Amino acid sequence: MRIGVIGASGFVGGELLRLLTLHPEVEVTSATSRKYSGKYIYRVHANLRNLTDLQFTDQNLEKIIDSSDLIFTAVPHGTAVDIMPRLVESDIKIVDMSADFRLKKPDSYPMWYNYSHPHSGLLKKFLYGLPEIRRNKLKGARLVSCPGCMALTTILSLSPLLKGNIIDQKRIIVDAKIGSSGAGVASSRATNHAERYGVIRPYKPVGHRHTAEVEQELSNIAGSEVSILMSTHGVNIVRGILCTSQLFLKKPLSISDIWKLYREAYHGEPFIRLVKDHQGIYRFPDPKVVIGSNYCDIGFELDDRNDRIVIMAATDNLVKGAAGTGVQCMNLMLGFEETTGLDAAPIHPV
Ligand SMILES: NC(=O)c1ccc[n+]([C@@H]2O[C@H](COP(=O)([O-])OP(=O)(O)OC[C@H]3O[C@@H](n4cnc5c(N)ncnc54)[C@H](OP(=O)(O)O)[C@@H]3O)[C@@H](O)[C@H]2O)c1
Repeated sequence: MRIGVIGASGFVGGELLRLLTLHPEVEVTSATSRKYSGKYIYRVHANLRNLTDLQFTDQNLEKIIDSSDLIFTAVPHGTAVDIMPRLVESDIKIVDMSADFRLKKPDSYPMWYNYSHPHSGLLKKFLYGLPEIRRNKLKGARLVSCPGCMALTTILSLSPLLKGNIIDQKRIIVDAKIGSSGAGVASSRATNHAERYGVIRPYKPVGHRHTAEVEQELSNIAGSEVSILMSTHGVNIVRGILCTSQLFLKKPLSISDIWKLYREAYHGEPFIRLVKDHQGIYRFPDPKVVIGSNYCDIGFELDDRNDRIVIMAATDNLVKGAAGTGVQCMNLMLGFEETTGLDAAPIHPV
């Protein structure tokens, strides 16, 4: 199958190229960049030196459509929305990595993204691409919108608890920490090394945009409205997310009850690892041991004195939080084995 990547010079684009280049069932036929058009891909993504001789092209939609069976759009939100009508019209399969088609209610866009959605009729056509939750619908789907990285990590870690009507749905506190690659490659004063190095920086104590998609998806799973109280921090790593969530039980449960819920929800899931260990350094999920892989590690601890559960989940924001899930969706959409091209073990130490 022929794959196009629009926005291929960015961090998510680069990670898509890394995974797709080694994928046995696909060939990357176009990779766009306005800035680097005509340049070899390895000049920007030097990790791909000798692995591909492809060059970046400019963003000529007609050429990309003609040379692709499926297109990834890995451009900033507010940008994907402009090119999508032509892509959708073409009948080609699309996986959008931006936030432009994740939210299903048009009035969520002015509220969370500060723009009025110009093509709100398309919102319902895109499937929210979370394979662990929507595997069957993704098989053969044509239009998919990939989750945000912190949103995915939160949704995967909390969904087993939301199914059973056992927790207080109005008081779910999520503390998310993310590395610098989460901000993308475009530089700003805040992401400049001198300003970013060494930080534990609260950047959205309230009102983070991913709150909207987490509430949307967890409310669907719970069957009634869920409120998420999310705070986010930038931390001193390049890749990685740790989401620590606090939830309050409606009635007391034992640790083995909770364990059972998670085991039932994720039994046989290729990319979910339940982590609970009594020995060693890594007794709980830790981004350091998922980097480079498509794993989402999930663990929990029960505070029975307060009927409180603390859930921890770790992902690599560029793999499971972006390109890895994108390729997992692609595999389902194109009828390949879901794990194809995604079986790399995490790198350690990083
Ligand atoms: N970083 C993450 O952890 C992460 C995780 C999940 C989802 N996402 C989402 O994935 C998308 C890409 O993120 P990223 O981190 O890769 O961003 P990025 O590093 O800033 O890359 C964005 C890419 O889009 C291109 N671009 C920028 N403005 C454009 C425009 N107006 N028209 C066409 N192309 C444009 C840029 O290439 P040229 O300037 O060379 O054309 C660049 O290659 C975003 O929507 C982001 O929210 C990111």
